[in-house]
Amino acid sequence: MTIQLERTTQAEALRLFLKLMRPQPLADPYPLYARLREIAPSMPIRFPGVPSGHLVSTFEGCSQLLRDPAFGPPTHEHLDALKPGWRDNSFTRSVYSSMVFHTGRSHRERRQPASRHFAPRAVSSYASEVEHIVDTLLDQLTRRSGTTVDLMTDLALPFASLTLGRLLSIDDAEAIRLGRLARQVGTVFEQFATAAQHKVVAESGAELVNRLASIVSVRRDGRQDDLLSALAVAEPGEEDHEKVGAAVLLFGAGFDSPASMVGLGTRLLLDHPAQAEIVRDDPAFAAPAVEEILRFEPPVQLVARAARRPAHLAGADIAEGGLVLGLIAAANRDSAQVKEPDRFDITREQIPSLSFGAGPHYCLGAYLARMQGQVLFPRLLRRFPGMRLAGEPVFRSPGSALRGLDNLPVHLGP
Ligand code: HEM
Repeated sequence: MTIQLERTTQAEALRLFLKLMRPQPLADPYPLYARLREIAPSMPIRFPGVPSGHLVSTFEGCSQLLRDPAFGPPTHEHLDALKPGWRDNSFTRSVYSSMVFHTGRSHRERRQPASRHFAPRAVSSYASEVEHIVDTLLDQLTRRSGTTVDLMTDLALPFASLTLGRLLSIDDAEAIRLGRLARQVGTVFEQFATAAQHKVVAESGAELVNRLASIVSVRRDGRQDDLLSALAVAEPGEEDHEKVGAAVLLFGAGFDSPASMVGLGTRLLLDHPAQAEIVRDDPAFAAPAVEEILRFEPPVQLVARAARRPAHLAGADIAEGGLVLGLIAAANRDSAQVKEPDRFDITREQIPSLSFGAGPHYCLGAYLARMQGQVLFPRLLRRFPGMRLAGEPVFRSPGSALRGLDNLPVHLGP
């Protein structure tokens, strides 16, 4: 049985939803999420050409959405309705044929070849390389001590590009170029974007695909033992866009969220000096700090699923084919799950969070991303103990699904 929302509540929930899903980013969407969770934990929304739509904002609801086999990724028919023209573009064709959009066996076939490269042992052996990258970038920043820098341009973006580039055996200069392109195409995961933003996705996306395709084509002889070679050889698809789909996904997912984590996390720590001091002084808090940063400011705010059969979720009946958006950023601050959810506190005993998703599509790079944060934040704070925010950050746009900063001005201190 579906719980019906009163008309006034429904109108308020719709207003909140429209404020959240607009092309301009919000500096602080969290009070809106809280209100939505309170008045409409599951609210009906309409999508053109889709039988029905819902938005779920509780921890329990989002958790079920991600784990319950009744829900899977949106199908190509959903994409035809929601993103007309996606089949005509090499980038969207690549992304939408990657593992994220597969279920069951075909999902496992695509995910499995990459898995061993992301297992804890493989990632741990890579930690010293990540430490070296961080130290080199911090050395460069140290030469600018006493000045104001943009921490996104000068640290977060090169850090994310270089760490991923080394993992994929892509040279540094090319990794930086790919990172720039990958940052521009994040809009592909947004539900609502302007025509100009779609144009950027198409143009930068085509360049990203071309560059990755030429890298992957060299690796298809299978002689190298790196991650991209494994994917290139194992890729079951025969079409060009399928062959590079995994590479495009890895570069997009593996670059974008770590870069956002660095920007959002640094801002949070500088806003909470007592917490920053703990991270600086006690290595035992590097891991919980990363968990709390990701709970509090998740780079992925929203995920989309479609009902594969009729289902019941968060008090609502969902018809087969119905599209459901799960607001994981709202779920992470659900007081049914987390005490004082709006307090940023790295010393919490438990940090329940859906920031890496859950279920079969749980983030492949979660262990790697955690290690990246655990290496970077304490080193950054130790190197610049007097660092402080030097102005308002600029949030990326649209930013409803992928939250992050375009610019983070900080003064590096004496
Ligand atoms: C702070 C960093 C990161 C965050 C917050 C993050 C978040 C997520 C989330 C929420 C999902 C699930 C999406 C869904 O269910 O629809 C996901 C999936 C994925 N992530 Fe990450 N991610 C991060 C870093 C990485 C890194 C470093 C890599 C690889 C180098 C990576 C690769 C992937 C892949 C391949 C998937 C798709 C898995 C599948 O469909 O089976 N991610 N990530």
